[in-house]
Amino acid sequence: MHYEVVLPAAGSGKRMGAGQNKLFLTLLDKPILIHTLLVFEQDEACSGIWLAVKDTERDYIQSLIAKYNITKIKGLPTGGTERQHSVHSCLKEMKDVEIVLVHDAARPFITAPIIEKLADTAYEKGAAIAGVRAKDTMKIVREGIIKETVDRESLWMIQTPQAFRFNLLAEAEGAAEKVGFLGTDEAMLVERLGHEVYVVESSYDNVKITTQEDLIFGEAILKARAK
Ligand code: C5P
Repeated sequence: MHYEVVLPAAGSGKRMGAGQNKLFLTLLDKPILIHTLLVFEQDEACSGIWLAVKDTERDYIQSLIAKYNITKIKGLPTGGTERQHSVHSCLKEMKDVEIVLVHDAARPFITAPIIEKLADTAYEKGAAIAGVRAKDTMKIVREGIIKETVDRESLWMIQTPQAFRFNLLAEAEGAAEKVGFLGTDEAMLVERLGHEVYVVESSYDNVKITTQEDLIFGEAILKARAK
């Protein structure tokens, strides 16, 4: 199933503490952002890439896009103060798209088979997101005290990509923006409409590069894949 992808890349990367957008940090031979872009550049089912960027970083990102010969970019809209706003800035420029994927630019290890399953499920069901089963015992804790141990069987850790029929996500985004509802992922906005969101089993190595130790983990993943 063909799709277009939205990659929010306008974060500040405070938790990385690198003093710059973490997406510009290098993992082995290439910036994190380029690793992510290349997955979609090389996926035949991807027919366009939308990248939400900071105005101050647009020129540098354009130079990277040229250097690594990324050809599928359709737009580089200005991102917002929250991730959801960055996604919104892309959605409002997209036209005639049936399936849209939203994927954190900071998750460079996503693979084509998972993307394909998500796009196909979104086409059939409307909404499908990537997730993995929780591995640890999960508890609800408030003020340092356990309130409840949650049944692990039904707990999933949710990732991106999150795939949708475009009209469904646009409606959900519009409804959220109207009342100022801020979700931590796109699925929350669709759930608010009462629409079912399907979970596609993903991989534990689809990590979001967030803190320094993720860089070590990320390089190990790349080295293992190169073998
Ligand atoms: O900060 P975090 O890693 O959770 O952000 C997830 C993704 O969303 C990153 O790729 C980041 O660049 C992007 N983002 C954005 N606009 C924001 C905040 C985050 O595009 N205001």
